[in-house]
Amino acid sequence: MEVLKNIRPIFQTTGSVIIYPASGSGAWEAAIVNTLSPGDRVLIFETGHFSLLWRQFAERFGLNVEYVPGDWRSGASASEVEARLGSDREHTFKAVMVVHNETSTGATSQIPEIRRAMNKVHHPALLMVDTISSLASIDYRHDEWEVDVTIGGSQKGLMLPPGLSFNAISEKALFANQSAKLPRSYWDWREMLKFNHLGFFPYTPATNLLYGLREALLMLQEEGLPNVFRRHARHAEAARAAVRAWGLELVCENPREYSNSVTVAFMPDGHDADRLRNVILEALDMSIGAGLSKLAGKVFRIGHLGSFNDLMLAGTLSGIEMGLSLAGVPHQEGGVTAALRCLAGNMEAVPVLLSK
Ligand SMILES: Cc1ncc(COP(=O)(O)O)c(C=O)c1O
Repeated sequence: MEVLKNIRPIFQTTGSVIIYPASGSGAWEAAIVNTLSPGDRVLIFETGHFSLLWRQFAERFGLNVEYVPGDWRSGASASEVEARLGSDREHTFKAVMVVHNETSTGATSQIPEIRRAMNKVHHPALLMVDTISSLASIDYRHDEWEVDVTIGGSQKGLMLPPGLSFNAISEKALFANQSAKLPRSYWDWREMLKFNHLGFFPYTPATNLLYGLREALLMLQEEGLPNVFRRHARHAEAARAAVRAWGLELVCENPREYSNSVTVAFMPDGHDADRLRNVILEALDMSIGAGLSKLAGKVFRIGHLGSFNDLMLAGTLSGIEMGLSLAGVPHQEGGVTAALRCLAGNMEAVPVLLSK
């Protein structure tokens, strides 16, 4: 089947990618039940709201979760991986689970560094990575980075409605599947692979979304993944230029971890982000992202991924700058100008735009 083959380059893998008729959370559950057994020890990093959800999933399945505390302003720490796995001489950890791009904070974890840390201490734990808000937006290499299970979803970089999710799987993960004892039926990789091999699914697939996926894959192929990544990097840089010019603070602290798909900014003290969001929605008919769980009311999120271009970003930032004024939020003017200057000064980064 065409989409089963053409989805592989999006994960930069030559191995199998399983497609579920489910939201991203379904693919998380699939990653867990296909590779692990009750009581297995797993390492999860507190990068933000979505790492918290992953922890809850793991605990509900009876896994023994070691949750490394974090401040919601940075990605997972490779040195922490090295320290914790290095001292685990008995190899009790069975998996390291990382959110590649924390959609709640705008911080992107450095997966190659995490893999290097695991290899350095020769630890056999599986590496599982959630790419729900980075797939097809931020460079991600399942094979080269030796990831064992990559979790993806349809509703962000793939430009589709929600309802499809993915597991890209390594040989090692397939091997773990043979001895994993968590109960599974709907999510079972073996059933899926058996049918996929013949071009079918073991149950009714989300056919309409698969047609959409075929189109999305053609669009990404036409633009070329490296150009897609450059486009998002350029928009993210411009969004950050706007936030800085407004005098607001980015949630992500480390420039190496800045997200190319979502930018998250703190409100000035004493000002409610949800009020700002409401003003922008009511006055300008534009919806911006809310702060999640412990960041609720404190931050707003600007999504700039998928089918997105310069003028869409300019419109989004204009709406926010107007909203900041309308809502009486203290800020400096000129965020939009700073973003436009950044975009115009960086046209050579996207030759494909100029040659069209
Ligand atoms: C990084 C990340 N992980 C997991 C999820 C959960 O995915 P879903 O809501 O599709 O089940 C999301 C949703 O936005 C996400 O951004």
